[in-house]
Amino acid sequence: MAFSASLSFDKRLAPSDIEASIAHVHGLGKAGILQLEEVDQLVEALSRTGDELAAAVFEFQPGDEDIHTAIERRVRELAGDVGAKLHTGRSRNDQVATALRLYTRENLSLVAGLLIEFQRTLQRRATEAGHTYLPGYTHLQRAQPVLLAHHLLAHGWALARDVDRLFATLERLNVSPLGAGALAGSSLPLVPDEVAAELAMTSRFENSLDAVSDRDFVAEALFDIALIGIHLSRIGEEVVLFSTAEFGFMRLDDAWATGSSMLPQKKNPDVAELARGKAGRLVGNLVGFLTTLKGLPLAYNRDLQEDKEPLFDAIDQVTLALVAMEGLMGTVTFDTERMQQAADGPSLVAVDLAEWLVARGVPFRDAHGTVAALVRESVERHVPIAELIEAHPAFGEEALTLLEPGSALRRHRSAGGTGPDAVALQMQRFVGRVEIDAARLSSWTR
Ligand code: ARG
Repeated sequence: MAFSASLSFDKRLAPSDIEASIAHVHGLGKAGILQLEEVDQLVEALSRTGDELAAAVFEFQPGDEDIHTAIERRVRELAGDVGAKLHTGRSRNDQVATALRLYTRENLSLVAGLLIEFQRTLQRRATEAGHTYLPGYTHLQRAQPVLLAHHLLAHGWALARDVDRLFATLERLNVSPLGAGALAGSSLPLVPDEVAAELAMTSRFENSLDAVSDRDFVAEALFDIALIGIHLSRIGEEVVLFSTAEFGFMRLDDAWATGSSMLPQKKNPDVAELARGKAGRLVGNLVGFLTTLKGLPLAYNRDLQEDKEPLFDAIDQVTLALVAMEGLMGTVTFDTERMQQAADGPSLVAVDLAEWLVARGVPFRDAHGTVAALVRESVERHVPIAELIEAHPAFGEEALTLLEPGSALRRHRSAGGTGPDAVALQMQRFVGRVEIDAARLSSWTR
């Protein structure tokens, strides 16, 4: 029992099991397999069992192997002889698969809601950032100035894809396995289409063997969550870097930072580090479960019981991580002066200087060479680049405006780029996308 029982962790499926069991009983009634009065008695006993579980007054017995057997045992106690009819035309195999789908549907919807809240926070911070800019990096080397709003929205778009992925997973998982029985359906005239409809699922299964052995939806949920974890981890890593004295781009709010047990001066980004660290665990849940699925013959195998712990852990951890990172990002203070100073160096406008020449008819490769030569000369001869530009026949004094703080960035005009007009349009589209996703989400939350 100690090795095979799952009650300790599948208790949380109780509301989903009750919901599915009530739909199953209604189905047996519609099929004429149960009398209406028997349906009422069973539904009554199931509701009461559900209430006992919700109020934590349900008494588990040593023989309760999992939440499903515990609920059935209690229904038989409450409903007497008719209780023994609950499991008619049903196996724990289709029962468990249905409960887990309902649970996953509800919880992925909650995760999508948290993602949307986080997106709204990023959107608010991006709006507040106005025309503040910072260095954009490639290879973690300063590359070109970018608007802080642009940088924040970059993370927002990654979260938009996460939300979209969750919706796709929700669509695919919304199929009812009830009626598949142990693996081959039943000789009784079950009504799985009607049961699916009662559970607000799009359809019933097409193949009973597939219905009881398919855990694609768990693997997909684990992938979706692992990728959310990776996105949070990347944000976390930037918070860790940007809050160092070396960068000094942001200060954490006290409520979202931690002290040190020994060093009185410390203010540590533990939340961001944990977001980074949890990603490893979320990837582990995915890889571990894929490995469990690999090579399983049709149909149900007890290995499938191993679907629950990684899924529950992934949902718990990503829920906490989303709430924590949203709180952190909602309250950090950006040191805009430091950010802008770091982005104001002439080297960050090198490509804008080259494009200045391009706009005057110079082929890009030649312009690139000209600017590279100027940068090299400036470094080697210790001459400010401004002097070299002013003296250069292809540039002259007019080109010096490009070196004024923020001026090169303001000249950016291409769609989706970091120029102020492009970012304003991007922001509009982002807001629209978040609102559309919020509306899509409302159809998944009942
Ligand atoms: N707790 C089990 C699970 O989650 C229930 C299914 C047991 N079914 C069986 N045929 N032994 O998979």
